[in-house]
Amino acid sequence: MNQTTRSYGLKQSTNSELSCNSLVFWETLVNPTRLVRALPQIRFQKQLSVPSKARAIMNSKPEQTTSVWMQGDRFSLLSALTQDDEADVCVVGAGIAGMTSAYLLLKEGRTVIVVDDGPIGGGQTERTTAHITNALDDRYMEIERWHGQEGARLAAESHTAAIDRIEEIINSEKIDCDFERLDGYLFTPIGESPNLLEQELQAVRRAGLSQVESILSCPLQNFDTGPCLRFPRQAQFHPRKYLAGLAKAILHMGGRIFTQTHIAKVESGTPARLRTEMGLTITAEAVIVATNSPFNDFVTIHTKQAPYLTYVLAFGVPRGQVTKALYWDTENPYHYVRLQPMPNDVPASAMLGNPLTEELLIVGGEDHKTGQADDAEARYDRLETWARARFPVNEGRRCHWSGQVLETIDGLAFIGRNPLDGPNIFIATGDSGQGMTHGTIAGILLTDLIVGRSNPWSQLYDPARKTLSASDRFLKENLNVAAQYGSWVTGGDVESSEAIAPGTGAVVRQGLTKVAAYRDEHGQLHECSAVCPHLGCIVQWNHNESTWDCPCHGSRFDKKGHLLCGPANTNLVQSTGLPDASVEFKAVSV
Ligand SMILES: Cc1cc2nc3c(=O)[nH]c(=O)nc-3n(C[C@H](O)[C@H](O)[C@H](O)COP(=O)(O)OP(=O)(O)OC[C@H]3O[C@@H](n4cnc5c(N)ncnc54)[C@H](O)[C@@H]3O)c2cc1C
Ligand code: FES
Repeated sequence: MNQTTRSYGLKQSTNSELSCNSLVFWETLVNPTRLVRALPQIRFQKQLSVPSKARAIMNSKPEQTTSVWMQGDRFSLLSALTQDDEADVCVVGAGIAGMTSAYLLLKEGRTVIVVDDGPIGGGQTERTTAHITNALDDRYMEIERWHGQEGARLAAESHTAAIDRIEEIINSEKIDCDFERLDGYLFTPIGESPNLLEQELQAVRRAGLSQVESILSCPLQNFDTGPCLRFPRQAQFHPRKYLAGLAKAILHMGGRIFTQTHIAKVESGTPARLRTEMGLTITAEAVIVATNSPFNDFVTIHTKQAPYLTYVLAFGVPRGQVTKALYWDTENPYHYVRLQPMPNDVPASAMLGNPLTEELLIVGGEDHKTGQADDAEARYDRLETWARARFPVNEGRRCHWSGQVLETIDGLAFIGRNPLDGPNIFIATGDSGQGMTHGTIAGILLTDLIVGRSNPWSQLYDPARKTLSASDRFLKENLNVAAQYGSWVTGGDVESSEAIAPGTGAVVRQGLTKVAAYRDEHGQLHECSAVCPHLGCIVQWNHNESTWDCPCHGSRFDKKGHLLCGPANTNLVQSTGLPDASVEFKAVSV
């Protein structure tokens, strides 16, 4: 493999140096200001050779927006893989699903390597709102229709167990991550009949959640929601701090975590082999691909789930004026709300508000299929109007961001053996808006499958399942995908690249094909093929994040065509159709 070398100031630690630098890492991950104190411990070296494809990781911020959890700098002080390696289990993806799996497997005495091509938590886990809940997004009525009463019961049981497991891990590892148990409230939009809630309550009770009750209104001073369902013993936390705690525990148990390491290929077999983009090999008895959207399953899974972008705003509200709880309504798309204390460290609180007088109100919603709308500002405006009409919101937006969720056709994640693959290759995907619990269920269930223990949830979450009662949704989503191929024969967004303003992008028709053209702030044009390397849909420009988003299965690329998230696993190619040597392979994730 041809590895060109370049010079950087920050030394990449070698594998043997990992544990020292790793401990520096988890401290700085939680509180970036600690980097200043940590710097002397991080060895610097001039003119160090770093493989070119790994270089985009250095402080790169591929999207425009940052979540409340990302305030301050992002650090990735863990080393990249620099030599072939082996372990009992290799986990690809250091989000909540991968990190929980690694943690629980280490507890079982397995040797584990975690690899991620971005920083830990740098995928959707950093963009979540971290409602930790067993009140399922798709409603128990629907889960019961798709999976039967026993399936709904197992779904309730597994999500409840996931909340408990998160709490157990936090307690036993002493993770300081703002974890709190609190109630969750589900209410209907103004003017809508509460019948839906009554039916949902019956389904919830049949699923075994006997403590859920119907009450007259949510406990909010200025907003009479009307009747709502109260789900007791839900939870919330700070996802980045939680992952930092998991990282620390993983490293203490002897687990190895390599960031800036892109896995190009997973080959099944005994053992399985993972090939990195740099040509290195990891050998493992079992592989977990926890990359949010699996790149190793080309078609099967992606016909059964659909990508949606969702939008979030954070506001300051006077401390103590909004009852701390989780809130959702039943609109389609629904709104989701929670509170978060202001951070205590100065750089972040300076950006977000006054910790003495305010807390953050986080409000999300306005979802649409990825790559099929480009009107984020209107969506943020509607969210703001909705929030101001219901909550005592102070001046200004403190933070805004978007992210992607993967909705399965039958409301539950796909966790288990990858269909049509070797028996030791596992995936976790299709979280919907429930990745905190689904990611934790993945950790529990995949650990059981790998150590050979039976698990009552394995059939429910089996990625190979066929849910005939959800065939209407299957058809709808796949007809929608088929329709996207129509953009091969339409014109471009603009007549020519001359019409593209600095700092923005547009799809331009060039003969028989289409080009994703981005003009940078200096006026220079950067052109790639607009054809998604996954299954050939035409990507769309996203003004809000300055990304190219695929409307078919949710692959996303930064403005210059670098891969951000799958199922594609390579960058957009040059408009000539030849691979672009200047376009590095994915090194930073959404
Ligand atoms: C705005 C928003 C709000 C949400 N709110 C909630 C909520 O309130 N509650 C809830 O439970 N869930 C919520 N979710 C969903 C939840 O955040 C996600 O489902 C969850 O974080 C996904 O975790 P993950 O570990 O599967 O994936 P990720 O966190 O995306 O991690 C995957 C990792 O894999 C890495 N990777 C990908 N490909 C490769 C490769 N080839 N080689 C190496 N590494 C690779 C990426 O860099 C990334 O770090 C929300 C999501 C969004 C966007
Ligand atoms: S993500 Fe499947 S074609 Fe683009």
